[in-house]
Amino acid sequence: MSAATASQVLKADGIRKAYRGVHALDGVSIELAAGSITGLIGPNGSGKSTLFDCICGFQARDAGSVVLDGRDLKGLSPQRIARLGLRRTFQQLRVFPELTLRQNLLAAAQAAPGFSYFRELLRTPAVRRHEREMAQRADAMLEELRLERLAGALAGGLSYGQKKLLELGMALMNEPKLLLLDEPMAGVNPTLVEGLKEELLRVNRRGVALLIVEHNLKLVFDISHSVYVLEQGRVLMHGSPAEVANDERVIEAYLGHRGPAATEQGARLD
Ligand SMILES: Nc1ncnc2c1ncn2[C@@H]1O[C@H](COP(=O)(O)OP(=O)(O)OP(=O)(O)O)[C@@H](O)[C@H]1O
Ligand SMILES: [Mg+2]
Repeated sequence: MSAATASQVLKADGIRKAYRGVHALDGVSIELAAGSITGLIGPNGSGKSTLFDCICGFQARDAGSVVLDGRDLKGLSPQRIARLGLRRTFQQLRVFPELTLRQNLLAAAQAAPGFSYFRELLRTPAVRRHEREMAQRADAMLEELRLERLAGALAGGLSYGQKKLLELGMALMNEPKLLLLDEPMAGVNPTLVEGLKEELLRVNRRGVALLIVEHNLKLVFDISHSVYVLEQGRVLMHGSPAEVANDERVIEAYLGHRGPAATEQGARLD
């Protein structure tokens, strides 16, 4: 196994994961360049979400290693990994419905570097400064997401698309090096999709690398520098969006498993 190079933000090597004998991941390796946008596509059940779980420490791997910015993540908790700059969003939304939008963002910020429960207890000047900074950051985030009007509203009352935006904001509170997005566009009103896409590009321009799982292939091919294709727990191919879109094996994998569903969601392979 070779060490990650300086320009790599993530190297996952030989990841395996089985659920009761079913190989969800059967030796998956990916490498992500710092500051890049990478697509991760594949038919339903091909292992995309499981790969996120195994990279972020939400599921224990059966085998394989994950190196973030030169650091081996072996044995680290998801919270620790988040503090090191690797964040994710979930296919099933995870916002706190009983908290306001601002409170949701501040709750997410507690996983940020500089936060310590011990110092929090002591209420040191550093803690108060951190709180002030996070409050300002939450307000700036709400503005960026165009949700500032709703800062004090309960997150439970948001539309689905607005909740997705909020979840994105929560993942961005601690300026990650790498953000894994699990179907950021699924269920989002088409009028919001364009805004969400612009937001992802803005985030990337600030230097955050993105790994995006998305069934909206047009969007993936549009914004990604390179694309990995998973099929049945293995990397079927990795290439530029154009290479992937025109690859017979990819077309076969999609048409073989998903049929017209791929096109129903606006995905086209040409
Ligand atoms: N917690 C779990 N327990 C048992 N089996 C699981 C679990 N999570 C995933 N699997 C199985 O692992 C395989 C990969 O699932 P995964 O959710 O990673 O696919 P996916 O590519 O994200 O699919 P989709 O596009 O539908 O979200 C599937 O066969 C799935 O049924
Ligand atoms: Mg999934």
